[in-house]
Amino acid sequence: MRIACLGGGPAGLYFAISMKLRDPSHDVDLYERNRPDDTFGWGVVFSDQTVDNLMANDPVSGAVVRDEFAHWDDIEVHIHGQAVRSSGHGFIGIGRKRLLNILQERARELGVKLHFEHEASADLSDWSAYDLVIAADGANSRIRTRYEPHFSVDIQVRKNKFFWFGTHKMFEAFTFAFEELPEGWVWAHAYRFDDNLSTFIVEMEPETWQRLGLDRMEQAQAIAWCEKTFAKYLDGNALMSNAAHLAGPAAWLNFRRIICDRWSYQNLVLLGDAAHTAHFSIGSGTKLALEDAIKLAEVLNRPGLTREAALVEYQEERTVEVLKLQNSARNSTEWFETLDRYLHFEPIQFAYSLLTRSQRVSHENLRLRDKSWLESVERWFQSRARGRKVNDPAPPMFAPFQLRQMPLENRVVVSPMAMYSAEEGTPNDFHLVHYGTRAQGGAGLVYTEMTCVSAEGRITPGCAGMYAPEHVGIWKRIVDFVHANSKAKICLQLGHSGPKGSTKVGWEGYDVPLDEGNWPLMAASDVPWSPENQVPRPMTRADMDEVIGQFVRAVRMALDAGFDMVELHAAHGYLLSSFITPLTNRRTDEYGGSLDNRLRYPLEVFRAMRAIWPAEKPMSVRISANDWMGELGIRPDDAVEIARAFTEVGADLIDVSAGQTWADCTPVYGRMFQTPFADQVRNEARVSTMAVGNIYETDHVNSILAAGRADLVALARPHLVDPMWTLRAAASHDYRGAHVPPPYLAGQSQLTRNLKRAAEQEAALRA
Ligand SMILES: Cc1cc2nc3c(=O)[nH]c(=O)nc-3n(C[C@H](O)[C@H](O)[C@H](O)COP(=O)(O)OP(=O)(O)OC[C@H]3O[C@@H](n4cnc5c(N)ncnc54)[C@H](O)[C@@H]3O)c2cc1C
Ligand SMILES: Cc1cc2nc3c(=O)[nH]c(=O)nc-3n(C[C@H](O)[C@H](O)[C@H](O)COP(=O)(O)O)c2cc1C
Repeated sequence: MRIACLGGGPAGLYFAISMKLRDPSHDVDLYERNRPDDTFGWGVVFSDQTVDNLMANDPVSGAVVRDEFAHWDDIEVHIHGQAVRSSGHGFIGIGRKRLLNILQERARELGVKLHFEHEASADLSDWSAYDLVIAADGANSRIRTRYEPHFSVDIQVRKNKFFWFGTHKMFEAFTFAFEELPEGWVWAHAYRFDDNLSTFIVEMEPETWQRLGLDRMEQAQAIAWCEKTFAKYLDGNALMSNAAHLAGPAAWLNFRRIICDRWSYQNLVLLGDAAHTAHFSIGSGTKLALEDAIKLAEVLNRPGLTREAALVEYQEERTVEVLKLQNSARNSTEWFETLDRYLHFEPIQFAYSLLTRSQRVSHENLRLRDKSWLESVERWFQSRARGRKVNDPAPPMFAPFQLRQMPLENRVVVSPMAMYSAEEGTPNDFHLVHYGTRAQGGAGLVYTEMTCVSAEGRITPGCAGMYAPEHVGIWKRIVDFVHANSKAKICLQLGHSGPKGSTKVGWEGYDVPLDEGNWPLMAASDVPWSPENQVPRPMTRADMDEVIGQFVRAVRMALDAGFDMVELHAAHGYLLSSFITPLTNRRTDEYGGSLDNRLRYPLEVFRAMRAIWPAEKPMSVRISANDWMGELGIRPDDAVEIARAFTEVGADLIDVSAGQTWADCTPVYGRMFQTPFADQVRNEARVSTMAVGNIYETDHVNSILAAGRADLVALARPHLVDPMWTLRAAASHDYRGAHVPPPYLAGQSQLTRNLKRAAEQEAALRA
């Protein structure tokens, strides 16, 4: 095959090498606009895994690269005058120039024809002599731009400014240094990559950059400014730029995140940064470029695959890996872009948050890396939660929490789940067993399902209610059982179905209207949930007053039944949510329009409930923090305002859910997918939050809590299959402090031993 590689970065060079290795008869020309020794940037970092991949592909260049790598284990985070150091992170670094020289030499040795100082044409017709044209010309690929519509390119210019320097200061650890200036925060990412050089990237928000006047400074002046600002980390060493060709502030870059839907067009194939980029803070761009190169060479030489099929295979096999890394990179980018949220953390928690920012590193991961540091985090967390010095480390999920006068044993919550098993709103023995078992299972707090404040406010005929006198006694029986047989507290979730009412029970069809016996609906506006659902009546003032009265009545009944806490359900498209989201609130009176107006009625309801709910007892509100409809609906920034508004009228906890407010919304699912909203609300509004949504491992729960992303963690579906979720977690962590129903204690030690053994076997398998 005759191949032209456009660009002599890691992707182009390594692809050329990988092709020649698989079949020396390939004729490969590589065109690079620079000279062999010209390069931007300084060092790059890899993981051990990447080196293994290089060794497997080409032991010759792999061994040279491996032997020249600088290894280090520690990460040191400097903030608020303190340094927090943890170990076991296992990085390796190499100079970009050295890496390219090694690859150039190897390519030459294998017979690749290298053409330096050759500006490659972006017109495919100039490459007609070649069977395959590889666009390995980096993030600003000209040839990709020329054929952009065929690749469906999505480029996001991220907001922070950064400058990539080199320095002779030898950093012993991967160093993050955060400095507060009157103009804002600035920080550096620094790591050693060979015997006398380190990378030093200075980053800041664009507003800070402007306030500092860096947008108007010549490069020399900007470098002098960076040297002075970070002088205490540089020990007199200079910062060196190799962006001298860029005038004035142009050396300050914005990261460009690139995603392409298609990676090939005719015989043109995108490779490395030309196809996708990953933010420098997770150091994976070069790894992706090299692994792309290996995969592309492998499929092109796979027997029986046509070139077309090979190109499809290349993209299919690489997309998942690339997307995973791009997701982690996005989390990491966003962490640095929203740094303000975390600056009030104590240094140890700030460092934990930094280490877990991409969500690739979890609590247990950190334990494997540096057990003693992780235990210091656990001791810190427990000491803070208990208000006294704690010497024994314990997982954060087992730290107590206090809401007003209500103490919680731990941070695990059974999320509200409608059971659709009541008759005329009256719970029964199913509910007693269901809630009783979950309380015995060890969660600190058990929420009831959405319990409706009137018969018309039910979602389905099977919904539980708190509106008829007989409801009180039955709920009281459940509450009393929970109090008598567990340490759990129990919270009654109160709601009104609004436009999503009068539907079948969950397992007969979700949000589907009843075949017969439908009752009239009301909502903020006459917007039906779907074309199949009824058109609700826009609420009049009289309707509003009546519904407030129903919520107040339900709160009084909750008090009589002995509940510890009540929650107002203002999420998921039900009545109050229909006011909050602009998608369903079309009102033109003072209850529609601005967010303040749309919140007016839900806040009236909350205020009325709070007025009669005892001051020593807490209240929460469940919100949908994202309608998943972009600009048209509620976005996480709005959720911060919503949380502030409810907090002002007495909410103690914001239960941060998302979506279910618009039938055609497009949520982005994934592990812990709603937790970023709980994090944003907590750390921007500075309120207590509960995270929920696809959280199912103890590791998730501990990571969320220790990183300060939420104060409580709710699990719904995991508690359906395992009511004893918390006790099982306690056993697998060998945590002895969880309350176990005394009758179960007889078998506890045996169970603990078995579970511990199972957990160890699982960990060994994973390792
Ligand atoms: C600040 C910063 C820090 C980074 N840190 C790391 C890190 O620690 N670890 C890591 O793995 N990655 C890191 N990266 C990313 C890494 O640099 C890239 O992901 C990687 O270089 C991609 O390799 P590539 O070959 O696809 O593209 P590039 O390395 O960009 O190579 C493209 C080559 O094509 C040449 N070229 C472009 N146009 C033409 C043309 N028309 N004709 C001829 N030649 C052309 C260019 O001169 C260049 O040599 C970092 C990036 C930045 C910006
Ligand atoms: C069967 C079922 C019923 C639910 N009913 C309610 C409810 O009554 N009120 C509510 O706010 N959320 C309800 N939810 C949503 C859950 O509380 C939770 O937010 C969601 O399931 C995501 O958490 P998970 O991934 O842990 O299941 C329900 C979820 C399930 C699975």
